[in-house]
Amino acid sequence: MNKPLRVALVGVGTVGSGTVNVLNTNAAEIERRVGFPIRITAIADLNTERARELAGADVHISNDAFDVVKRDDVDVVVELIGGYTVAKQLVLAAIEAGKHVVTANKALLAVHGDEIFAAAQAKQVMVAFEAAVAGGIPVIKAIKEGLAANQIEYVAGIINGTCNFILSEMRDKGLPFGEVLAQAQALGYAEADPTFDIEGIDAAHKITLLSSMAFGIPVQFEKAYIEGITKLTRDDIQFAEQLGYRVKLLGIARKTAQGVELRVHPTLIPAKRLIANVEGVMNAVLVKANAVGPTLYYGAGAGSMPTASAVVADLIEIARACQAPLSSRVPVLAFQSQGIEAVDVLPVAQVVTAYYLRLAVDDKPGVLAEVTRLLADHHISIEAMIQRQATAEQETAEIVLLTHRCVEGDVNKAIEKIEALASVHGPLTRIRVEDLS
Ligand code: HSE
Repeated sequence: MNKPLRVALVGVGTVGSGTVNVLNTNAAEIERRVGFPIRITAIADLNTERARELAGADVHISNDAFDVVKRDDVDVVVELIGGYTVAKQLVLAAIEAGKHVVTANKALLAVHGDEIFAAAQAKQVMVAFEAAVAGGIPVIKAIKEGLAANQIEYVAGIINGTCNFILSEMRDKGLPFGEVLAQAQALGYAEADPTFDIEGIDAAHKITLLSSMAFGIPVQFEKAYIEGITKLTRDDIQFAEQLGYRVKLLGIARKTAQGVELRVHPTLIPAKRLIANVEGVMNAVLVKANAVGPTLYYGAGAGSMPTASAVVADLIEIARACQAPLSSRVPVLAFQSQGIEAVDVLPVAQVVTAYYLRLAVDDKPGVLAEVTRLLADHHISIEAMIQRQATAEQETAEIVLLTHRCVEGDVNKAIEKIEALASVHGPLTRIRVEDLS
């Protein structure tokens, strides 16, 4: 029988303790799958008492992460501390020491992934990060292996549970944004700094990683277009419902003839699409590929045990791959390193999509004609329209337009001119629309 795979856990918070739990609870089943055990031999955490409570008596406990990554009785380091700085040094130190790395740190990989993957390749060790995207959903494995026969056309995902929870509650209960955010924080869904969730940054980290694996391109987080959900109102969510749409924060990566679109923003999706019905903290990723067509992956995007499920799946993959020749390993970004192509990420002004536009206008003849004339001047065709009359409380009427697909740069120019009209009041609200058919 082979020797056990020996694991150092760095950080035993929510995901770390889940990882200990899954490895203990499912030890026999895991050994049946791998052929030998996976054992935790060291834990580093600032709270050594908590680490000791979780670990068996023979596990080395330290408050110094850099101490455990170099130990001889460690084959794999599981980095669960998060952040960019210490985590990066730690991951690079582990690689330098010849250890494989498992991490749930999407921020680190979206920003420094290329450097980390190159270091790992030089040292012939593996970096696995299923837990970094959509928690327990095995979407990375699906893209890297299950869909390996395909050319992927696009990936569109609800990949931030906090935002999905907020949008679901705003729609279902008619609650305002701020109130639901406070609930999400109390329930522990949001990141330590909730701006990462609500401003779309967390989703952008995740879609950046998915785009690299879908298209075989470097990680290019700095080129992603990112817009969060903080400006969405109950009115927009209700108007969207009236038009037959749901509003979701989507991460979108699409390959076009001109380059790759990489964007995160609130998006109207037809309510009848399966992905539009993903509610609460759940995540879902839709992948459209040329041979298989659309496939949808759904499940828990966060939480102790679901995320630990992904961490342990990576440990199992490493345990198996350690036994096989180097050439049989699945490449870290799904493509061989020499096959990674430096394809441009398109500026958002070149993106082609449809739009929801809401504007407050004087309720008098000719206003709508002025607005539609400006849209037509910029090659923007209207698909649907609703109007809410002025009332005793609100002097202006509200117009909501859905456009056909058009170029974002044209929409920007039209919006500028529409907002300058004397009969239009305040800034116009613009939300992108994706059909995902
Ligand atoms: N804060 C994240 C979310 C958790 O809300 O989806 C896991 O990335």
